[in-house]
Amino acid sequence: MKPHTTSPKTPRTYRVKSFGCQMNVYDGERMGELLAEKGIVPAPEGEEADLVVLNTCHIREKAAEKVYSDIGRLRREDGTSPLIAVAGCVAQAEGEEIMARAPAVSMVVGPQAYHRLPEMLDKAVKGERATDTDMPAIAKFDQLPKRKRRSPTAFLTVQEGCDKFCTYCVVPYTRGAEISRPYSDLIDEAHRLIEAGAREITLLGQNVNAWSGEDDKGRRLGLAGLIRALAKLDGMERIRYTTSHPNDMEDDLIAAHGEVAELMPYLHLPVQSGNNRVLKAMNRAHTAEGYLRLLERFREARPDIALSGDFIVGFPGETEAEFEDTLRLVDEVRYAAAFSFKYSPRPGTPAATMDNQIAKEVMDDRLQRLQARLNRDQLAFNQASVGKTCKVLVERKGKHEGQWLGKSPWLQSVWFDAPAAIGDMIEAELVEAGPNSIRGLVRERVASFG
Ligand code: 5AD
Ligand code: SF4
Repeated sequence: MKPHTTSPKTPRTYRVKSFGCQMNVYDGERMGELLAEKGIVPAPEGEEADLVVLNTCHIREKAAEKVYSDIGRLRREDGTSPLIAVAGCVAQAEGEEIMARAPAVSMVVGPQAYHRLPEMLDKAVKGERATDTDMPAIAKFDQLPKRKRRSPTAFLTVQEGCDKFCTYCVVPYTRGAEISRPYSDLIDEAHRLIEAGAREITLLGQNVNAWSGEDDKGRRLGLAGLIRALAKLDGMERIRYTTSHPNDMEDDLIAAHGEVAELMPYLHLPVQSGNNRVLKAMNRAHTAEGYLRLLERFREARPDIALSGDFIVGFPGETEAEFEDTLRLVDEVRYAAAFSFKYSPRPGTPAATMDNQIAKEVMDDRLQRLQARLNRDQLAFNQASVGKTCKVLVERKGKHEGQWLGKSPWLQSVWFDAPAAIGDMIEAELVEAGPNSIRGLVRERVASFG
């Protein structure tokens, strides 16, 4: 077999494959914009790209193996590959090893360094391999091109990194310390997104509610202040934010849910476990009771708020009784949506070397039981929405001809059969609920995409 080599030449087309969280989706879009500045265009669907960026996720199992198999799959029959860049959190955590193990990779670039991708590319086309996993604080955002993406929904990274050091989590190591982007940059970027057609903006951060900044008059603001300012921008119709940590919830953010019409009635607030010993071992620094009290306050401010959470089953040492506390918490909250995972030991995190790692079969069983309840509650939440009339922002075509799909204020997928276009805001009656979507009947077309 011929050696696995790249064929250096200036790329004309690119493809960015983003895995994992929404932050990676945002970063992936920004990398695309950087490449577009160099005249490189997205590869047409189904065609091989000259440059492939694998924008990786390291949060759970088998992240690195997946990267190597993706690299293998890019190999052509003659042994060559397109230019390959590995970006994202696996690049940050295992960059050197990737360079050593995968000769087809010419660029390894961490999540805080991808603004340097164009320079790395100049080297790569000359056959030089480059790694950049520096964490130069905020520099990245200053050097990215202005946003041009045209879409009714958009992500806006407002905060990055995490100082919480939950004992299972790699994020503080791969994304670095908490930083907040400056207020004026965010207002600017939001303006541009709206000009490009965005009606809904989701503010992103690993700990988005730890965002802090100063407005143009020098007043200190938290996330609620930022949301209140963004809500006043002309054309801003919907604001969401994710992901939050229970310990950084300021009173004003809770109040904003009752006061800011543009702030959608949805809160993603991970709890991970319903047992206080496990929460302590996870270094979550809150209790199950504290979490429940917090949710109550959100419900008081906004009674129809849809709640969502993240859960980990089988954290080292978790007993059956401790797991049942998680089930009890779920029964009490009745989430509208949730994400649940089997604990995965991440190299370099404290929990990875704790005693009493839980057997896979036990984790499988617990995950199944937890998900059965979460699915039950998601369906119940959707069924309880039937009969309501609400606005739906149309995001894409549905599965069948003539069908469209959008989101309700509660982040439910709503589909309908009626003439529409991407970016339309429809007034729909919710008529039939499934576990993952709801059928709507269009009552009125409120506005269309400008
Ligand atoms: N194992 C399993 N799930 C994890 N998460 C983070 N780290 C791990 C891990 N080591 C989950 C948490 C977090 C979500 C983004 O991923 O639930 O909230
Ligand atoms: Fe990871 Fe915990 Fe930080 Fe979330 S709060 S990113 S789970 S360390």
